Order: sequence, then C-alpha cells, then structure tokens
Amino acid sequence: MTSGTAALHAVPVFTDIDLDTRLISPQSVRDLIGPRTKVVIAVHMSGLPCDMDAFARLAHDTGVTILEDCAQAHGGRLGGRLLGGLGTAAGFSMNESKQMTTGDGGFVTTNDDEVARIASLFRDKTYLRDGSVGRGGQPIPFFALNYRANGLHAAVGLAQLGKLAGLVQRRDDIARRYYAELADLKNFDLPRLTDGAEPSWWPVAGRYTGGDGRRDELVEALAAEGLTISTGMSPASNILRTELVRMKRYYPLTPAVPAFWRDTEYDPDGCPNVDELQRTVIRLPVDQRYSDEDVEQTIAGVRKVWAHLVD
Ligand SMILES: Cc1ncc(COP(=O)(O)O)c(C=O)c1O
Repeated sequence: MTSGTAALHAVPVFTDIDLDTRLISPQSVRDLIGPRTKVVIAVHMSGLPCDMDAFARLAHDTGVTILEDCAQAHGGRLGGRLLGGLGTAAGFSMNESKQMTTGDGGFVTTNDDEVARIASLFRDKTYLRDGSVGRGGQPIPFFALNYRANGLHAAVGLAQLGKLAGLVQRRDDIARRYYAELADLKNFDLPRLTDGAEPSWWPVAGRYTGGDGRRDELVEALAAEGLTISTGMSPASNILRTELVRMKRYYPLTPAVPAFWRDTEYDPDGCPNVDELQRTVIRLPVDQRYSDEDVEQTIAGVRKVWAHLVD
C-alpha cells in the first residue's frame, strides 16, 4: 500500500492502530488530517471490519475520500453490508494466501461510475476495448500500467466466488469457538469487534498481556503441542522502520529522494501500538479446511500451555 501510494507521487502518512480492535484508529486518523490530505485508507486487517461510520463522519467533516483495503476481508460485512461497498472504492487482493484467490492479482470495487471508468482504463494502459476505436486509434489519455486479468484468472475467481459465503461461515464458526472457549484465559486478549461486524476472519490476533516479555516462550510451547500458531501481523514488523520509509527509497539504485517526498519526515517510533501488538501477538489459526477436531485440539493445546505457564 505504501508503494502504491508513493507510485502515484502521493505522500503516505501512517497512523497508529487501536490496540483493542487491532485496527487503524479513526481518532488517530482525524488528528493527522491536514490541508493536503486527500484520501484515507481504512484497512480491514485480518478480515475485521473497521468502524466505517466513524470514517464516514470523518469524510463528511473534512472532505477526504475514504478507500477500503479489503485485501484480507473478502465476504466480511458491517451492519449487514459487504465490505468493499462502504467507501468510495476498495481494493481486494487475490494472492494465494487470501480467502479467495486467482493465484495472484486483485480487483477494485466502487459505486462511483467515474472511478470505475478510470480504474478500468488504468488496468490496461488506457486501451479502449469496447470496439469504439480501431487499431491505431487508441487515444492513450493518461499514464497507466498493465494490471490486466485474463480469462483464466476470471474462471478461477468465479469458481472461488461461489465458495466464498460457505468459507466465511466456516471461518466464523471457528473464530467464535475461540472467543467462547478461550476468552476466560488469564492475560489473553482477543480483538474487540466493531459493532455490527461480521468478519471474514484471518488468523485471530490474540495478545498475551502478561507484560513480562514471555510471549515467545508461550509460542514455543504452543508449537511444541503441534499447534499452527504464528506471530507477525505482516511481512514487515513496522513499516516506519523499513528502508523504503526511513530513507524514502523510491529508486533502488540511487539514494535520491523524489521531489514529492522530500519534505516529509517520519518518526520511526510514531506507531507505538503497532510495536506493542507485534511484541505480544499470538495468532490462532483460522482455516475453513479445519475439522472440528482440529479446532478442539487447538483450544485444548492453548488451555494446556496456559495452565502450565500462565495460571
Ligand atoms: C492488508 C493488506 N493490504 C494490501 C495487501 C497487498 O495485496 P497484494 O499482495 O495482492 O498486492 C495485502 C496482502 O498482501 C494485505 O494483507
């Protein structure tokens, strides 16, 4: 997302998360809005819906456009409405790790005809494919790249779409069991859901809140029980400490910073809740292919480790 923003010569600004929800905090966003802010991206991280009413109020009060990052949120809902239809536009990832996949790639949803028109031109070098121009007649009105999906992607995607509702239901069954059967554990905290949320779920980002730095010891013990437990929330622990952002490294072969990015300073410690989540997170597996027995073994394994090491 950072690279996508910078690719447009827009300056990415990063905001902290709310530790309880594990999601971008609408209040932190509001505090960062300035005269040059154009767009806010609400990230439905781990399939957990953001508080889109708060973001709609923000749009109303400040004039910013709200986009949704639905890369991990296919089929999730808020207040009965599908994620991806609650902002001006949304981006979905279809890489191999997602709820649904076409091998790789992604798609955009929007209720705005002009956004749809521009997005469909952008994905294909601006070529008109409706038969309105002949070969040699493409007007090429603006800079655009080639993100074209092909018929094979579409065939796989349509088949996957048919399975999505059942897949989300199964993931929900599994996650709800964790909430019902692990919420009483000492020093274990599960994400607070936005009112009206029907998540499409990703590994559930539980947190060890003992405050004694023993998260890694617990994860090791959970792995020794044969459980599929993961820690990092994302490929980079904190985007503010990547070379890309620290050095504003736009070009791989030169340290030159492009003009649009020169005036921006980043504080590497500017998102302390992200750091705290990364230090404490213990992610419980959610996968529609899990049997009831798999889920029971996971719950029993966690309870066993807690009984030995925490209680
Ligand atoms: C929250 C989030 N945003 C954006 C992306 C980027 O998606 P892609 O890998 O399809 O470029 C991903 C996944 O990789 C993601 O999980």
